Amino acid sequence: GKVAVLFGGTSAEREISIMSGTGVLEALRSRGVDAHAFDPAERELVELKHEGFARCFVVLHGRHGEDGTVQGALELLGIPYTGSGVMASAVAMDKVMTKRIWQADGLPTPRYVRLAFDQQSREQIMAVPDVLGLPLIVKPPREGSSIGVTKVQGPNDVDRQMQDAVALAVRYDTDVLCEEFIEGEEVTCAVLGSGLNAQALPVVRIAAPEGAYDYQNKYFTDDVKYHCPSGLPEAEEQEIRRISLAAYHQLGCRGWGRADLMIRASDRKPFLLEMNTSPGMTSHSLVPMSARAAGISYEDLCLRVLASATL
Ligand code: DAL
Ligand code: MG
Repeated sequence: GKVAVLFGGTSAEREISIMSGTGVLEALRSRGVDAHAFDPAERELVELKHEGFARCFVVLHGRHGEDGTVQGALELLGIPYTGSGVMASAVAMDKVMTKRIWQADGLPTPRYVRLAFDQQSREQIMAVPDVLGLPLIVKPPREGSSIGVTKVQGPNDVDRQMQDAVALAVRYDTDVLCEEFIEGEEVTCAVLGSGLNAQALPVVRIAAPEGAYDYQNKYFTDDVKYHCPSGLPEAEEQEIRRISLAAYHQLGCRGWGRADLMIRASDRKPFLLEMNTSPGMTSHSLVPMSARAAGISYEDLCLRVLASATL
């Protein structure tokens, strides 16, 4: 039957979703799938039903797409869709909720302070560096692609840097996540499949100049170097995969996903930063890179994800 590739949407990551979705659409068509573009920013989801779409491939990033809302609508319409269900999507969209679950399950994630909308007075903001130390990271909890993220360096001008960082984050969310900065290497681990069939793919190690793995360099330059195979010692590679798979299962994810982590330089301990339930599929994105290292082409990856579509 007809497949709708859902991309675009209304979130701050719209531009990235269009790049991801265009790639997925072309790949599916090249393999003979009757795939059509569908942008929820332009059309009502109920039209999917009226037009007889049999399945949806969700490549929306961010809110109203990756956060359980579209998933809930598709559940009600009775149209199978790729990726995680309502709850896992909603939880994974929120980095604070995600951390709470991982902490409860004993998975390693950096220490943090959540500043809810009513906890953002100057005094409350300034108490954060005392708790977390410096440098620290300030993020909107429900964004992606490094949008609204600041690294507060210190040691000078911390007051001003914290105020600016919080002001930037609240342009994208009501709450603010302040997180301990883990000095070390950034890695990412894709997971493919559901339940007992889920498997972690090869780890990608990201080699970016200090502070340079930002929105621009994630998608629009070639300044960042990616290593896959990771070049990490085998034991570390396996540990990252094990933790990422556990993190995926603890959130109740299915279909596919991608965990982002830091490996602390001082003791090589891995820390989970977040889980992406609708990972990027652009030419610069990491799940396709990892799949390729596992012998899975971009087209085959798209077909495998599509085959996992369910209600
Ligand atoms: N949020 C972007 C799309 C990613 O994680 O790949
Ligand atoms: Mg993300």
